[in-house]
Amino acid sequence: MYKLIDGKGLASKIRLELKAECDKIRNKGITPKLAVILVGDDSASKVYVKNKSKACEEIGIEFEEIILDDSTTMEKLLSIIDELNKRTDINGILLQSPIPKHLNIQEAFERIDYRKDVDGFNPINMGKLMTGQNTFISCTPYGIIKMLEAYNIMLEGANAVIIGRSNIVGKPLLQCLLNKNATVTICHSKTKNLEEITKTADILISAVGKINMVTENMVKEGAVVIDVGINRNDQGKLVGDVDFEKVKEKASFITPVPGGVGPMTIAMLMNNVIKACKIQNNL
Ligand code: GUN
Repeated sequence: MYKLIDGKGLASKIRLELKAECDKIRNKGITPKLAVILVGDDSASKVYVKNKSKACEEIGIEFEEIILDDSTTMEKLLSIIDELNKRTDINGILLQSPIPKHLNIQEAFERIDYRKDVDGFNPINMGKLMTGQNTFISCTPYGIIKMLEAYNIMLEGANAVIIGRSNIVGKPLLQCLLNKNATVTICHSKTKNLEEITKTADILISAVGKINMVTENMVKEGAVVIDVGINRNDQGKLVGDVDFEKVKEKASFITPVPGGVGPMTIAMLMNNVIKACKIQNNL
């Protein structure tokens, strides 16, 4: 019998703890503050940013949204980042991905001061993660690790297989799992014999963004299945990458979509903003 991993419940518990921590900081006369830059008209991004702003409000973190239109130049984007880097009232800066194709997102991530990089996408923070140093860990991978730990899922020595090699999820997650002594394999669109590899997974994570990417034949009996995908099906319903109804029968633990990884990503972002504020104020 599988167990559902309740990311939503765990995230709200974490948010409560963060609220208590935020109250303590505010009692010292300091208000943690997050700035989010949204470029263009991506409808999913707008929803994500709204959810981030709601979480900030609930915890007591100030939120500033900078909305830029599709035709924004790289020069303009970089100058806005420079300004936010300089402002002492801003503790965390997040550039919502994706941004329009004519802009270079890597250059933009690199421009965000690594001390305010609450997404952990600046190469300095990516490098720190890679070398096992204290840093801002990217929110989705960090949330996944927190969920696995909360459910006492053994990471040390586990065979973890990640499908998807994005800079936002796959690559930092590889490092996070490696830092916890798992044996990690990354699969991607050019991987041969995908099913053979995924069947070796004690922990299988899909971060592709494709409905039914993971079917029951790809999953070992008793595996832990983590679904990072957020897709809309023909009925307009939110679904993940995993064929949930069939795969759950083989899994020991499985995350739902929605209510699994998504809420944990936001909780970890809040965690990183509080952390940034504390470091910047020597608290
Ligand atoms: N787009 C999808 N996920 C994320 C994320 O974690 N951070 C940012 N900045 N953009 C995203």
